[in-house]
Amino acid sequence: MAFIEWSSELDTGIQVIDNQHQRIVEYINKLHHAQEHHTREEVANVLDELVDYTLSHFAFEESLMEDADYAFVNAHKRVHQLFVKRVGGYQQRFKLGEDIAEELMHTLQAWLINHIKNDDRDYADAVRHNVQHVDDKKAGWLKRSFGRVFG
Ligand SMILES: [Fe+2]
Repeated sequence: MAFIEWSSELDTGIQVIDNQHQRIVEYINKLHHAQEHHTREEVANVLDELVDYTLSHFAFEESLMEDADYAFVNAHKRVHQLFVKRVGGYQQRFKLGEDIAEELMHTLQAWLINHIKNDDRDYADAVRHNVQHVDDKKAGWLKRSFGRVFG
């Protein structure tokens, strides 16, 4: 069974964001699987992938919030930064040989679910409205800049 099951409670109603969140959940499940069945090197690779993808996703979200003139974009960015710092700390400790598996999985699960359900839902109205009005030129730019978080 997957470590985290996707549920409709996690939907923001913005397709492109929901797809990215689902992908992050898949990475977390993959990381959990790797921790239980694979070598440290494989775990390190999956962890790097998860962090990379999450960073791109955060940047993408922030650009949508900025475009929509979302009032709390700076507060939301700070929340992202804190998370990045925290996960970076885990990565560091992992590389130094510490066993951080349980702590990391707990943080990923608790933080992420909470963040998606609360913080991301909070920007959803403003961004959803704006995304419907993003013209093709802007959509093309977003795809070029954030290619890895699409598809
Ligand atoms: Fe967010």
